[in-house]
Amino acid sequence: MTMLFRQTRYALVISLAGCFATPPLAADSADHPTTTRKVVLEKAIPGYRWKLIEAPVPALGRRQVLVHVRAVALNHGDLDLLKPDPSADMSGRVVASDGAGDVIAVGKDVSGFRKGMRVTSLYFNDWTGGPFTEDKVKNVHGWTMDGVLGDYIVLDDTAVARAPAGLSYEEAATLPTAGLTAWTAVTANGQLDAGDVVVVQGTGGVSTFAALFASAMGARVIVTSSSDDKLRRMQSLGTRDGINYHTHPDWSDKVLELTQGRGADLVIDVGGKDTLAHSVTSLAFGGALSIVGGLSGYEGKIPSLGLLMKNARARGIFVGSRADYQRMAEFIATHRLHPVINRVYPLEQGDEALRLLAAGNFVGKVVLRLAPAAGE
Ligand SMILES: NC(=O)c1ccc[n+]([C@@H]2O[C@H](COP(=O)([O-])OP(=O)(O)OC[C@H]3O[C@@H](n4cnc5c(N)ncnc54)[C@H](OP(=O)(O)O)[C@@H]3O)[C@@H](O)[C@H]2O)c1
Repeated sequence: MTMLFRQTRYALVISLAGCFATPPLAADSADHPTTTRKVVLEKAIPGYRWKLIEAPVPALGRRQVLVHVRAVALNHGDLDLLKPDPSADMSGRVVASDGAGDVIAVGKDVSGFRKGMRVTSLYFNDWTGGPFTEDKVKNVHGWTMDGVLGDYIVLDDTAVARAPAGLSYEEAATLPTAGLTAWTAVTANGQLDAGDVVVVQGTGGVSTFAALFASAMGARVIVTSSSDDKLRRMQSLGTRDGINYHTHPDWSDKVLELTQGRGADLVIDVGGKDTLAHSVTSLAFGGALSIVGGLSGYEGKIPSLGLLMKNARARGIFVGSRADYQRMAEFIATHRLHPVINRVYPLEQGDEALRLLAAGNFVGKVVLRLAPAAGE
């Protein structure tokens, strides 16, 4: 579990050793390639770096689907995975958890998916619905099992979901982790009421999604950021108020000021150690805290008296199930929402994409594009 949320403090060393053309298709099928490009972890000093290799496409099992991946979105967690991990040798692990593409073949016992469907991967291999249980953590793409960064990947049929209509591959690829985590964080305590106040921290993947969803539900969103420029860019998402947490380190005072002392109905905490106390101070009476991240560390303390005196709730959020994803996808389609993408890189520039992610010089998501579909 701690491995999933290791903190990122390392010198980034990335090499995409060798680039390969799109693999040839097998002679006996127009759809079934025999080899694929994929990006795996390779040992570096310190930690790991990405390596682009060519490998056979795995055989398709009875309950599996073969996906032609068109785009892969990166997450903060992809940086964490490059850190040294004394508890496991991660060499050879296929990276990344969030891909979008087309189903090009299905195993004979697959019923919910068919060739030609546009799908995304899911963070958890087999959390299709119901409550979260310990066994779900054992199978996470790009962490405890192979991820999705390759042209052709084989996934269990429990590990894919239909992409919402109206989104590009690049947009759909942002949904499995950042989108779904934000959705779960925003809806964990029921739907928001119009006019509810929601605080989101920073302008990265999870927070921009949370702002998008909360705004679409009619909430008033207050965003914190290290940068006035990023705060201005967030206004296009409907966020009325921004607080620069560098110039206002006691940013919870500003939240209270902006809400005439009432506070926020929901605070989505991605900062962790350095933000939890301010998050609790920001809460309204009866408010809710969704605990999502640990950008400043996971060893933070939640002031229990602050929660108690406000009759407030705190809840941990861990991405979500496929059933949650489907509810999110419906909401996205109904409200015609589009994820915020800062920049799309070709796969061959994966090292640059990781550098941008590590530098934090972006708003929203950073995405890799794989080979385009014919005619695109
Ligand atoms: N629980 C889950 O299921 C789950 C799922 C996904 C991610 N996470 C975790 O949630 C966190 C955010 O992930 P992400 O993918 O959205 O990250 P991201 O896209 O890399 O966004 C990071 C942004 O957060 C802001 N930030 C950085 N340090 C901060 C701090 N100390 N306090 C407040 N804001 C800070 C910065 O924006 P500004 O420059 O605008 O301040 C930065 O650009 C990470 O810790 C990640 O591991 C958890």
